[in-house]
Amino acid sequence: MSNRRPYVGGNWKMHGELAAAVELTEDVAAAIGDAVQAVDVTLFPPFPYLQAVGHALRQAGIGLGGQDCSPHLEGAHTGQTSPAMIADLGGSVALIGHSERRNELGEPDALIAAKTRAALAASLQPVVCVGETMGEREAGNALQVVERQVRAALEGLTSDQVGTAVVAYEPVWAIGTGITATPDDAQSAHSMIRSLLGELYDAELADSVRIIYGGSVKAANAAELFSAPDVDGGLIGGASLKVDEFASICRAAVSA
Ligand code: 13P
Repeated sequence: MSNRRPYVGGNWKMHGELAAAVELTEDVAAAIGDAVQAVDVTLFPPFPYLQAVGHALRQAGIGLGGQDCSPHLEGAHTGQTSPAMIADLGGSVALIGHSERRNELGEPDALIAAKTRAALAASLQPVVCVGETMGEREAGNALQVVERQVRAALEGLTSDQVGTAVVAYEPVWAIGTGITATPDDAQSAHSMIRSLLGELYDAELADSVRIIYGGSVKAANAAELFSAPDVDGGLIGGASLKVDEFASICRAAVSA
């Protein structure tokens, strides 16, 4: 970590039910407490619970985000949720390009770029997810794949727009598997992404953008991962559903 403010996201994926989502929110807010002074924390509940979770967060100083957003701002797009609707329910962030959407739903790079532009147009902070599969890593292509994904997602964006975004490096083989990237694996991807931002924009921007790691982060490995110089926090799946685990990951980001 550096002097960048750490960032921790809790991606609840398609888990829970309404009452449990509200209870989890209240418990997480209480457990994190004052640590929010020193770390940006955002919860990404399932869309149907966004408003209830937003209410439960009240003045906790924790952000609220959608797990996806439409590339369209409004119109005849059945089943989609516009970035403006997320904002209307109190959200200020959109997770874009998660590998579970890239792989299960076949979302291509161009769609992810369109969603990133739509989120920015509605003044949401995009958290853009990138990461290679195990096959791509074994073929020696991990960094090329990640570079292609980052270039595509940011295509045509201004430096000011990218300055508001967060990049989440989530190697697909580490998601939900219990296999975590080593701090060195994470660092090499993160430092490549930061250099790429320097090449596409400038050194000042590259130095300011938060690049967070996701994939089997838990309380037991968070501090080590966050100690890598270009790892600015984490995007947490399974462990974000456990109050003590998630709070302790947030504290690890503060102390890194
Ligand atoms: P896990 O922490 O469950 O591996 O999930 C990571 C993730 O996909 C967060 O977006």
